[in-house]
Amino acid sequence: MNRLLVCPPDHFKIAYEINSWMHVEVAADQALARVQWDTLMAVLEKDCGAKLERMAPAREVPDMVFTANAAAMSRRTAILSRFRFAERQPEEAYFERWFLEHGFTVEKLPEGMFFEGAGDLLGFDSLKIGGYRQRTDIRAYQHVCRMIDCEIIPVELIDPRFYHLDTCFCPLAGGEVMWFPPAFDEYGQEAIRHRLPESKRIEVPEDEAYRFACNAVSIGAHVVLPEGCPITMGMLAAHGYIPHAVGLSEFLKAGGAAKCLTLALD
Ligand code: ARG
Repeated sequence: MNRLLVCPPDHFKIAYEINSWMHVEVAADQALARVQWDTLMAVLEKDCGAKLERMAPAREVPDMVFTANAAAMSRRTAILSRFRFAERQPEEAYFERWFLEHGFTVEKLPEGMFFEGAGDLLGFDSLKIGGYRQRTDIRAYQHVCRMIDCEIIPVELIDPRFYHLDTCFCPLAGGEVMWFPPAFDEYGQEAIRHRLPESKRIEVPEDEAYRFACNAVSIGAHVVLPEGCPITMGMLAAHGYIPHAVGLSEFLKAGGAAKCLTLALD
């Protein structure tokens, strides 16, 4: 999980409203967003040993900074996203070109179903959890599990503030997960509890979940998460991780934080 695809925030702004965090009248400060993004990249590169692949930004797609939504990756294959909202659909062609130019095979889902990549599909080598309803369609997972030859447990996301799986669930390198159970329906919570023993589940407190504690990048022992989550950082440390907090206020205005700004390529 060391090579990450990222997209600089040159054109990042709150240009439309496609999730409950975005309000066009609450603009992102572009200079501060740049500083926050640069700081996140420096922490990932220097403190965590990540290798960053920077793709070229494009003016018409302000949310392309959120590369987690490009695709779901499986070895050298990218299963390209099909965005639910028209505002983000033009990103698909940019991401597809980047993957093809960098030696990846691109697979596409049948038309007429939505899938938002590593924003909604997360997990471990042999078991993945797939968030659905708000962005990804549940039936996309029938196709994805065949493409990546892996079991996928679909879980419904019921709270509009946690509209992508990566806003409320984060698998860690050591086999634990951080999560916020109220973002899932009872059945989804039960499915997750059934497959992951209690010793592997780190439950984040509500106020930190709202600060996107779960939207964290996990690289070996390092976990990079948004600032304002001291209890989560303490729990991570107790499990042997090294937490790093980064200020990401401007990206939270778009409904994203650390994890959304990266796509693990391997
Ligand atoms: N404004 C973007 C959207 O609503 C934010 C995406 C955040 N990405 C993520 N993987 N959670 O699509």
